[in-house]
Formats: sequence, C-alpha cells, structure tokens
Amino acid sequence: MNFLLRPPSLFVFLLIVLSACKNTPKPDSMTETTYYTEAHRPQYHFSPPTHWMNDPNGLVYHKGVYHLFYQYYPEDIVWGPMHWGHATSTDMKHWEHKPIALFPDENGYIFSGSAVVDHQNTTGFGTEENPAMVAIFTYHLMEGEKAGRTDYQTQGIAYSLDHGDSWTVYEGNPVIGNPGIKDFRDPKVFWNEQTQAWTMLLVAGDHLQIWGSNNLIDWEQQSEFGKNQGAHGGVWECPDLFPLSLDGAGAADAQKWVLLISINPGAPNGGSGTQYFIGDFDGKTFTSDQTEPLWIDGGTDNYAGVTYNDTPDGSRLFIGWMSNWNYAQLTPTQAWRSAMTLPRTLHLETVAASPRLVSKPLPIHNPASASTSTYEVPVEDILSISNKDINQSQIRFDWDGASVNLDFTNEEGQVLSLSLDKEEQTISLDRSQSGYVGFEERFKNDQQMSWTPLEGKNELNIYMDASSIEVFVNGGQSVLTAQFFPLKPYENLTISQPGNSPLKLNSFEMTPIPSIWR
Ligand code: FRU
Repeated sequence: MNFLLRPPSLFVFLLIVLSACKNTPKPDSMTETTYYTEAHRPQYHFSPPTHWMNDPNGLVYHKGVYHLFYQYYPEDIVWGPMHWGHATSTDMKHWEHKPIALFPDENGYIFSGSAVVDHQNTTGFGTEENPAMVAIFTYHLMEGEKAGRTDYQTQGIAYSLDHGDSWTVYEGNPVIGNPGIKDFRDPKVFWNEQTQAWTMLLVAGDHLQIWGSNNLIDWEQQSEFGKNQGAHGGVWECPDLFPLSLDGAGAADAQKWVLLISINPGAPNGGSGTQYFIGDFDGKTFTSDQTEPLWIDGGTDNYAGVTYNDTPDGSRLFIGWMSNWNYAQLTPTQAWRSAMTLPRTLHLETVAASPRLVSKPLPIHNPASASTSTYEVPVEDILSISNKDINQSQIRFDWDGASVNLDFTNEEGQVLSLSLDKEEQTISLDRSQSGYVGFEERFKNDQQMSWTPLEGKNELNIYMDASSIEVFVNGGQSVLTAQFFPLKPYENLTISQPGNSPLKLNSFEMTPIPSIWR
C-alpha cells in the first residue's frame, strides 16, 4: 500500500461539524437520538463513534477486560495521520469507547501493532504488582515517504500503567530502526514459552521476519519466512502466529502453528485478504511445507485480522477489519466509516482429510432471552420470509440435499444473493444489485470461494447487521464476510434450491439481535 496515494478528504464539511467530537465516549454532536442510528450503522458490531477506522491493533486481555485498539483518524472519514483509538469490553459483546491512546509524534504516524502485559516487568516500566501494558507499533514518517526514502517505517513502543487509559511514549524510540526496507511494519509481539522471552513478528515487504527480545526494548532478528511461499500479489501486512491443536486433541504432537499474513492486493476476490500457513515453530523459526495460500475468509471484507494475547481461557480470539482497501474509503457512510468483524475463535480441524483453519463466532446473544422465530419449512420449493428484523439478525438452518440459494431483498427491489453450490463446490455472493454499489467499480464483482460440502446435512449460520453479512458454513469450515449498502434494510428472505428439487430445510431459525449501542 502506498500511503501517499490514499485519497484526501471529500468530507470537509463533516470534518468541521464533527471535529469537536473526537476523543469522547459519546461525541457531543451525537445526541441520544442520532447516536449509532445513521444509515448502514452496524448495531452489534464494533464501529468507531465517529470518523475513520481500519485495522484492529493491540488486542490484549488484562484483569477482566478485553482491549481493542484500532487504526484511527479522528478528523475525517478517510485514512489520514494514524492514531490508536481504544475501546474495552468485559464480555466481547458490548464496548465502551475510551480516549485515543496513541497520537502521531516526531517519529511519525502510529501504524498497526500489538500490545502485551509485561507481567514479569522485563521493561522496568511498571512493577510485578502493577505490570505495564506495552504497545508495540510501527512509526510511519510521512516526510520520509514523501522525500522518496525507503527507511521511513520503524518500530516504537509506549506503555500504560493505568490499564490503557493513559500512555507514555518510550523516550528511546524507535526500538528497531529501518534497514532500508520500504514496507517494514505491523509488529505482533507475544510472550514465547519456549524461549522465555518476547517474540516479534514483523513483515518486510514480501516476507516475515521473526525477532526476539528479553525486555521489549533490545531486539535481535532470529529468522525469516515466506519469500517463496504463499500469495505474493501484494505487500505482506499484519502477521500473527499461534499454536492450535488439530481437532482439539490435547497431545503435544497434535499441535501445529498457524501463521496469519494479510496481503493487499492479491486476495482471491480482489484487493485485501488474509492468508494462513500451517507449520511448526521451534521458538525462533517458523517452517511450513505449504506452498499454496489458504485463506481465513472467502469474502471480500475481512482484513488485517489478528488475535488476542492472554485470553483467560486460552482460546484464540480473532477480530478483523470488515473492509477492503479496494473501496474502504469510498463506502457510502457518513460521520463514521468501517466496522470490525464479530469476534471469532479460531480452531484447526480436519476438513476433507487436510488441516484447515476454522472460525466460530462468539455467541452474541443469550439463547434463553433471545426471541427466536422458528419457521415451518414448506413442502414446496421456496421458503419466503418477510420480517423487519432480518437485516439485524442471526439466521440458522440446516438442509439435506443439493445446492441452496438465499435472496435478501428490500422494498426497493434490491437483492443480495448467496448461493451454495454442491456440484461446483462453491459459495458465491452477488451484491451487484444489493443497493449502493457504484462508489467503486470492483465492489460489484461477484465473490466466490471453494467449499467442501458434507454428505447429507449441511448447516448455515448467518449474521446480518445493517451493512454486513457474515456466513459460517458447517461450523465455520467455510466463512464469507462482506459489506453491502441497501437503500432500505432487507426485510425479505427467500430460500430455494436451484432446478426443480424440493427444498429440504430443517430447523429454520431467525433471531433478531438487539443493538449494543442504545
Ligand atoms: C493494513 C495497513 C497496515 C498499516 C496500517 C496503516 O490495513 O496497511 O499494514 O500498518 O494499515 O493504517
């Protein structure tokens, strides 16, 4: 990504109106009646109160609180000088907005990175009783990029002794200077049990570098990976690396390491996407015999996702940015732009005899209190539902037999079509007639992913939220995430099987999901 080329603001008016709103939990310009009610505003996903957001950063759990930092430009709804926005959650369903954590300084904009809790006080920034939360991020020096230099991305750190509320930038920054590599960024740091030290993953253009440190300040490079493996249609970004047990087996020899690498452009459906590699990590070097890329999500809108450090139950909890650099800055929202995916736990499962990364959304509502509607499935060929809650709901069913088509429509006649084709073994999403689509040519493109249908019963779990669809097939073995922008919410859903085969749906349920913001 050439950061110089990101287009300037088109929304000067909004900038003036909303510039007073930055940095407060509920911006002044948002009255109770407008807060999170704008057109297309997700109601149970995280989105910033106002202005531009991209990647999730610094995902860390500490003392009962999940922290979500994010790439944030608090003066416009397009990308600009990057800050770290901040929000917290105790249940991963509801979020509290916090003051901006990190601001650009003389070393540059604050690009993506991670956060750790320094429990053993290896930095000396805190104490063992009150360990520092340390953010490790990339500095992007715009003056350097503009001057045509290649060394404008360096790594810096900052720490907080009050659970992320206020931050001190380390005075010795940068802690890793630039060796002359243009794209040198997005440090993911974690405590490495094997070496009893810190490990940093850093992307360097077309490959990954692994660095080690005893104190988060002095770093030394240990290995590199990937120059000739996986997808290379664009720059590598936002790495992550973690162990998972295959099929949940407890045995240590069933443990594999999964490396996430986001890439832009070069994703199968165009623009941004996140590939993964399954391999081994000896504490310093990652190896994998995988040469072809695998993708965490077959949709267009799940990018730069990474996982939490220090989850209380050891689960591998993932959040992605629900957009794509092809059109992220042009989507038809006002006052705010972009949302995160639902939080998902990642698992390694055997699918068609090979290990595959599987994503399962965290439960978003309490089944006991949810007002689930169960629909009688007709004997004829089509199930048709009209319900004003469809556009903000969870939809679940399983079916026997062949392929299945879902059409979400609104009273404007706009349609979002999802098809699962058992013969072709594909899942596709057509959003060419889904509403506002003309803001960028490529938004209309069909998206398609491969799918391994199960013999007999297959199962669909879909989350609709104002302007996003997240599709989880067969327990998350196939996942497709995409945005859409209808003029009016979709209130009708028809489900059919192509050809003349009768519909063989079982247990169809639709559960409205209440807003987490109001
Ligand atoms: C990914 C990315 C990162 C970079 C950040 C800048 O979307 O390009 O590589 O750190 O966004 O905002």
